[in-house]
Amino acid sequence: MASGDRIFITGATGFLGSWIISRLVERGVQVVATDVSEDHRRLALLKPDLPADLVTFHRCDVTDAGILEALIEETRPTGIIHLAALQIPQCRERPALGAAINIGGHINIFEAARKAGIDRIIYTSSIAAKPRGPANAPSNLYGVFKKTDEEIARIYWQDHGVPSLGLRPYVVYGVGRDDGETSAITRAIEAAALGKAYEIPFTTRSCFQYAGDVAEMFARAAVASWSGALLSDVTDTVHSTDEVVSAIRAAVPDARVSCAETVRISPCDGFETGALEQVIGRVEEQPLQVGIRETVALYREIAAR
Ligand SMILES: NC(=O)c1ccc[n+]([C@@H]2O[C@H](COP(=O)([O-])OP(=O)(O)OC[C@H]3O[C@@H](n4cnc5c(N)ncnc54)[C@H](O)[C@@H]3O)[C@@H](O)[C@H]2O)c1
Repeated sequence: MASGDRIFITGATGFLGSWIISRLVERGVQVVATDVSEDHRRLALLKPDLPADLVTFHRCDVTDAGILEALIEETRPTGIIHLAALQIPQCRERPALGAAINIGGHINIFEAARKAGIDRIIYTSSIAAKPRGPANAPSNLYGVFKKTDEEIARIYWQDHGVPSLGLRPYVVYGVGRDDGETSAITRAIEAAALGKAYEIPFTTRSCFQYAGDVAEMFARAAVASWSGALLSDVTDTVHSTDEVVSAIRAAVPDARVSCAETVRISPCDGFETGALEQVIGRVEEQPLQVGIRETVALYREIAAR
């Protein structure tokens, strides 16, 4: 049954977008799905039976403020989930384009929301925005852009009263995660599911989160209300990549997966999830073994289709 909510999503055909759409439609929420890409492959993998009456697809580049504002005006959403961004490697390779999309696009979303009177923006920051290493600062341009986005959200609340919730997912894994440096975790699970060998190109301790849990958080927040520019971590559960490999072996006993010795530094303490819990309550996280087992099963089901 339709819920009366209509959520405008940017970056909708990407990994998280596909997971979030599939959770929103299960709740009867209408979705205005926007992206520069018209490749719906990930969503088709996750939700082959997508209810066509709940989702409309639109090509929309977040760097084009005019088109974005016109589409928001036309579709009159009750909330926005802003995901469109370039990832770490693309921001490193094409920094000006990265800034145009990850910062310029973010400003365009807040401007469009301000003009249309939308009082619910959920956007993705990242663990990369958090200070780390000897400089006690983000360690790459992507992190600097995400940190800037958090400050932009704060100023839009201060100057214009636009409420927002910035969420900082960490290493999210699940079917459809095929881009970005930390997609190696998902590639390892997929390789194990399909009987192939894979080496995760780093060793680290970090938060490894199942995409279904993260999508659940966005879907719940999309129909909630709050005031202020809130910012929240989305988990405080830390694992090592060795524990990831053990969980993969628990699901696939003959898995040929390993980790390279190169150490990847990642913040692994000081997480604050209170702001998110204030908005949606506590979301039960799937233990690593369960999320990995489900991902293995889904990859095998897709391979068999
Ligand atoms: N996946 C993770 O582990 C993770 C962790 C932390 C933060 N995030 C953030 O979450 C968001 C979604 O991540 P994802 O893993 O789904 O990434 P993704 O790369 O799969 O999806 C991003 C989408 O943005 C779209 N896009 C790129 N440029 C655009 C533009 N100019 N206009 C409109 N759309 C554009 C792409 O076509 C793509 O579909 C991103 O902001 C990312 O930085 C992801």
